[in-house]
Amino acid sequence: MTKQVILTGVRSNEEPTLANYLGAFVPMVEMQKKYAGEYQINMFVPDLHSFTTPVDHTALYQSTLTNVKYFIAAGLDIDNPDTFVYRQSFIPAHSELTWILDCFTYVGEMSRMTQFKEKSGEHSESVTMGLFNYPVLMAADILLYNAAYVPVGEDQFQHLEITRDIATRFNNKFGEIFTVPADTKTQTSFIKRDSGLRIRSLTDPTKKMSKSSTEEKSKILLSDDPGTAAKKVMSATTDSVGVVHFDFETQPGISSLLQILSLLTGRTQEEVNAEWVGSTSYGEFKKAVADAVRDFLTDFQRRFASISDEALIAKLEASEQAMAEIANATLLRAQTAVGLRRG
Ligand code: TYM
Repeated sequence: MTKQVILTGVRSNEEPTLANYLGAFVPMVEMQKKYAGEYQINMFVPDLHSFTTPVDHTALYQSTLTNVKYFIAAGLDIDNPDTFVYRQSFIPAHSELTWILDCFTYVGEMSRMTQFKEKSGEHSESVTMGLFNYPVLMAADILLYNAAYVPVGEDQFQHLEITRDIATRFNNKFGEIFTVPADTKTQTSFIKRDSGLRIRSLTDPTKKMSKSSTEEKSKILLSDDPGTAAKKVMSATTDSVGVVHFDFETQPGISSLLQILSLLTGRTQEEVNAEWVGSTSYGEFKKAVADAVRDFLTDFQRRFASISDEALIAKLEASEQAMAEIANATLLRAQTAVGLRRG
């Protein structure tokens, strides 16, 4: 029997942040540790998604490779035979299926996508068709490989839901062509998290930490000098309550730091809260978080530096060949369903 697929991707448009690490890299690595052997693990870089908003195209090719290295530094074992690591644009079926799905997706439903609304606001001078169409390409990424589980942060949940809607609509019209991925509730209980993570900006903790933010102090980059990152934590926005509580409604800045501390040190949120809730020294508390961030980055960057390009390229090429076969088989089913190929 073929194995069920767990799949995720991280764009290479900007340097990944601590939020990407905690929201996507870590859950995927945990999935691999827990399920490799039982499930197929697909980790890919959606390089075509990377320029839905403007990027430096001269750096894109290299930053795609760097992104894969970040996954490996986060603990992804590329020697595992059930794990496939690939670049989206190296498998043309992604683009081809997107066109077919486009013709079964409504402008109205795409216009409701929160990310589109937010990003088109930020880049109002250059709202491209790519930005609008991005969730359909994401649906193709997932459906081509019959993925059941897609560990992503909370900001991508709406895109997962639209993937389910598109797949269900297509199946209702043409028969069981696509595997419909699990709903977000089932996903989060499978991934063993209460909800998708939403790591907050350090300067405005009511917003998510975003790699495309131009405000350097709002985010911790995985490539940040560890000392500089620690300073960003020390200057993070908190509040004037003066006592540490874990409550995102009333103290989002402090709560976000408590969350980061728990996730980086591998202790439960309850353990970390038991140590810090009630403390009246924000300085001491921030220093504990800053130290954890500094230690994490030092260790992470050491692992990153030891990854060889040759091993990485060999794995990418082998995976791209293997995954193209699966993607092409799904594409052919869809092409046949819509009448482009003989049934
Ligand atoms: P991207 O590249 O913007 O983000 C990569 C992953 O990081 C998560 N993330 C966060 N998690 C917690 N807190 C945050 N503040 C935070 N910011 C980002 C994202 O949820 C994501 O899991 N469209 C996707 C890439 C993609 C994809 C796919 C993912 C393309 N095709 C197919 C899964 C399956 C994106 O833009 O992620």
